[in-house]
Amino acid sequence: MSKAVRFDEYGGTGVLYVEDVSLPDPAEGEVLVKVKAAGINPGEAKVREGLLQDRWPATFPSGQGSDLAGIVVQVGDGVEGFAPGDEVVGFTDRRASHAEYVLADAGELALKPSGVPWEVAGALFVAGTTAYAAVRAVSLTPGDTVVVSAAAGGVGSLAVQLARQAGAEVIGIAGPANHAWLASHGVKPVAYGAGLTDRLRKAADRIDAFIDTHGDGYVKLALDLGVDPSRIDTVIDFAAVQEYGVKAEGSASASSVEVVAELASLVAEGKLEVPVAAVFPLDEVRAAFDELEKGHTRGKIVLLP
Ligand SMILES: NC(=O)c1ccc[n+]([C@@H]2O[C@H](COP(=O)([O-])OP(=O)(O)OC[C@H]3O[C@@H](n4cnc5c(N)ncnc54)[C@H](OP(=O)(O)O)[C@@H]3O)[C@@H](O)[C@H]2O)c1
Repeated sequence: MSKAVRFDEYGGTGVLYVEDVSLPDPAEGEVLVKVKAAGINPGEAKVREGLLQDRWPATFPSGQGSDLAGIVVQVGDGVEGFAPGDEVVGFTDRRASHAEYVLADAGELALKPSGVPWEVAGALFVAGTTAYAAVRAVSLTPGDTVVVSAAAGGVGSLAVQLARQAGAEVIGIAGPANHAWLASHGVKPVAYGAGLTDRLRKAADRIDAFIDTHGDGYVKLALDLGVDPSRIDTVIDFAAVQEYGVKAEGSASASSVEVVAELASLVAEGKLEVPVAAVFPLDEVRAAFDELEKGHTRGKIVLLP
């Protein structure tokens, strides 16, 4: 048996509950993992609320969660490269990682570098692959200036660091509480709110690229600042993608275990910080999402089953 998060209808965090579910032995190519940490993401809240029913409907009872890190318990036939006791990082596409145990495909897992803490490894997949894809999409070269909206959020906090590593000057749009954190990562912080366009114009002679991880008009702002649509990527404003022809590369564009492993290596080498704002036990999944859905997390919130 495994405790797992479930919901039986669309709704607020109150529809979430934890129950014991039975798990079969791993089938061919599958690995049973005892989950040590599993990140939570705004997309999961949107699925739960039914806001993405057209694209990603739920079937009830639904599980949730794709980020994971944990310890291999059992491997199915044909699995090579993993054995019980191995520490792994990765994901599942089955909406199932918010649980004590998860069955993942072997191709969704990589060995976790030993220096990476569980809560960091378990937070890497969605935010990390999204940041990776967004930075790649805007083709940064040394000397470019890129603006990142929601620069200290789960995706933004990683995107600003990857953009710095690409050699770009980075301007991060965030509330004042996050300015010191951004500055400590070589990012020029700019507050959102009235007057933002003027503040951005003053912050740089030229803005070459824009990564939008917040939505709500930032794509239009980027165009107003003179950024070419081919160098604007939004991971959330799909209406703006239709309207202006900007890019929409997010998690799906980089959703591979190789990318997760590359990001985990950067963490192990001390080149990437994944800020973990809070951890919650599995039983407190409602509180974890209540906190996330306030919309002001620095970095990630992680469940520790
Ligand atoms: N397409 C994809 O593949 C994909 C993948 C992952 C996420 N997403 C989407 O991307 C978005 C961000 O995800 P996330 O995990 O980074 O979310 P998150 O961690 O919840 O983002 C929180 C951040 O948003 C910032 N913020 C709040 N109001 C803002 C404003 N008006 N202007 C600028 N920043 C503001 C907050 O900054 P302050 O605390 O400083 O206020 C906070 O740091 C979500 O909509 C999510 O659904 C898409």
